[in-house]
Amino acid sequence: MTTPKRYTITAALPYTNGPVHIGHLAGVYVPADIYARFQRIKGNEVAYICGSDEHGVPITIKAKKEGVTPQQVVDKYHAMIKASFKEFGISFDNYSRTSAKIHHDTASEFFKKLYEEGKFIEETNQQLYDAEANQFLADRFVVGTCPKCGFEESYGDQCENCGTSHNATDLINPKSAITGNTPSLKETKHWFLPLDQYEPFLREWILEGHKEDWKPNVYGQVKSWVDDGLRPRAVTRDLDWGIPVPVAGGEGKVLYVWFDAPIGYISSTKEWAAAKGIDWEPYWKDKDTKLLHFIGKDNIVFHCIIFPSMLKAEGSYVLPENVPANEFLNLEGNKISTSKNWAVWLHEYLEDFPGKQDVLRYTLTANAPESKDNDFTWKDFQARNNNELVAIFGNFINRVVVLTNKYYDGQVPSAGSFSDVDEDTLAMLQKYPQIISKSIERYRFREALVELMNLARLGNKYLADEEPWKVVKTDPDRVQTIMFIALQIASGLAVLCEPFLPFTAAKLKTILSFSTLDAPLNWDDIKTKNNLLPANHNIGKAELLFAKIEDEEVQQQLDKLQASKQANEAANKTVAPQKDTIGFDDFTKLDMRVGTILEATKVPKTKKLLQLKVDVGIDVRTIVSGIAESFSADEIIGQRVTVLCNLAPRTLRGVESQGMILMTDTPDGKLAFIEPENESVANGEQVS
Ligand code: 2FM
Ligand code: ZN
Repeated sequence: MTTPKRYTITAALPYTNGPVHIGHLAGVYVPADIYARFQRIKGNEVAYICGSDEHGVPITIKAKKEGVTPQQVVDKYHAMIKASFKEFGISFDNYSRTSAKIHHDTASEFFKKLYEEGKFIEETNQQLYDAEANQFLADRFVVGTCPKCGFEESYGDQCENCGTSHNATDLINPKSAITGNTPSLKETKHWFLPLDQYEPFLREWILEGHKEDWKPNVYGQVKSWVDDGLRPRAVTRDLDWGIPVPVAGGEGKVLYVWFDAPIGYISSTKEWAAAKGIDWEPYWKDKDTKLLHFIGKDNIVFHCIIFPSMLKAEGSYVLPENVPANEFLNLEGNKISTSKNWAVWLHEYLEDFPGKQDVLRYTLTANAPESKDNDFTWKDFQARNNNELVAIFGNFINRVVVLTNKYYDGQVPSAGSFSDVDEDTLAMLQKYPQIISKSIERYRFREALVELMNLARLGNKYLADEEPWKVVKTDPDRVQTIMFIALQIASGLAVLCEPFLPFTAAKLKTILSFSTLDAPLNWDDIKTKNNLLPANHNIGKAELLFAKIEDEEVQQQLDKLQASKQANEAANKTVAPQKDTIGFDDFTKLDMRVGTILEATKVPKTKKLLQLKVDVGIDVRTIVSGIAESFSADEIIGQRVTVLCNLAPRTLRGVESQGMILMTDTPDGKLAFIEPENESVANGEQVS
């Protein structure tokens, strides 16, 4: 038995200015959860730490927009995020929040220590200021052109396009996000962490020390920043929402959110340890502790450069062993966007797909943006469920459990002598813990999941080749051996799927009655034991692990997305400006009447034109209308319309048009008729 290792696993603290969506899950929380669960199953000591990031400008902006206090915003989203993570099976050991007293105390002490040890530069210089809002413009309160990539909507502290982190005064053409004004400059004092002084340390620790084991995307970003030259970075702000700067001269100022948030990992660990009555320090200060930060790519600079420099400056902490950052997940071909409501929100998924947490965990892992941005589509979600979870994993387990119940009344049969195929199959089963471990330890969760499914495939192939349902008629003894082996594979799957599919693992362990085994099965037992489920052990009845997802369920989700797209387009659509004023006399000249379309035919060789016969009360006339891209000829017979009757006739494609049908636009770019709301209005009634 190897000595257990200690892991401190952190997952980026989500901002509490909105709910969590699938991009967050795929990038951070699901991979971190797989890793944490895996290390626990391996018998290691794990602190899987997270909490809500409740400071920073996005929260203040949201509060202003909603006309509530920042505290109300964070209270609402903290509760929502915490509950949905729990329901989704994210197994944090502690989920705290940065508004907690323990965090304010920890971050203040951390700052004070660096201050007292002279680790900051204190400098008064000019910062962007919005005179109308009477406020300094830090971080997201200012937008402008990124000095590095030219993106025109970069924030003051970071460009979302190229990921560069900069100072607000570096922006070209800055504009206040509060008033839209061009800011002025005003003097103010701040404390800076001189990142330039940490360059040699960062070079040695990351660029030389982690070239081989850090992901290329992470290593590459760090290298590019360090090579570009690091500059002192302000760690305080002139804002009123945050942790007050705890030193003389800091009145009215708060800690920069990216100074306090990563310290949140430490305070959350402290909170957890205190509740358990254990010492938190080994989780952060023992040199043998493995500290890992799971984050998205936009957080790399903060976790690989700024936070480690803070830890180094403080002096008593370990540094992360790895920062396995992921790229971004897109949704149906477009960037996920909170403001555009282009997202699959976790709390909504949990409502729409009750009991299907593992299906989303599976899809997000199978499609994880580990080395490049990836796309989530509902069709893929459905296909992964129906063709993989149901057809491969679920099908294998179902066959094993049904046949065991049918042939042996649920009792594991004794095996006879093993054939070569049996020996090979058991030997393969024993290799899977190692194969899957290797991938997980290298943060290759997609690969690990493929291997897990390969084990289920192995089970299916074994049954398909050995055909117990046929052999039972001629050689029932042989079937005992076949089913014994199939049951060993099923129990291997129950143990090995736990990090990825925890709800399925629990269900499967219940079906296989793991609780009545002499000792619980662990990961390494699969490598060594030949009788994971011993002969005579009683299993339970078959129960479906996964259910098919129907087209309608997926269509509902696509419709929901389409609706947000349309709402967005409508919100963003600029209404055409009013035309020049006309006199009342001009208006009375218009002869507009209610009519009904009696006939419609497509005008040959045109895309847009329909030739209509319209009853306008006075007569039945021909009108040529450019509506064929929105309506087919058949569907508009009987349609009530409004017609401008006294428009001078025009000949279009050889047909004289004697009037015009009045139309308007829909948000999706189609046309719509203007019709009387009351059906009894007769043809020929005037519109005035
Ligand atoms: O990008 C974000 O959502 C940040 N709230 C992540 C913070 S991670 C940590 F440092 F706290
Ligand atoms: Zn940029």
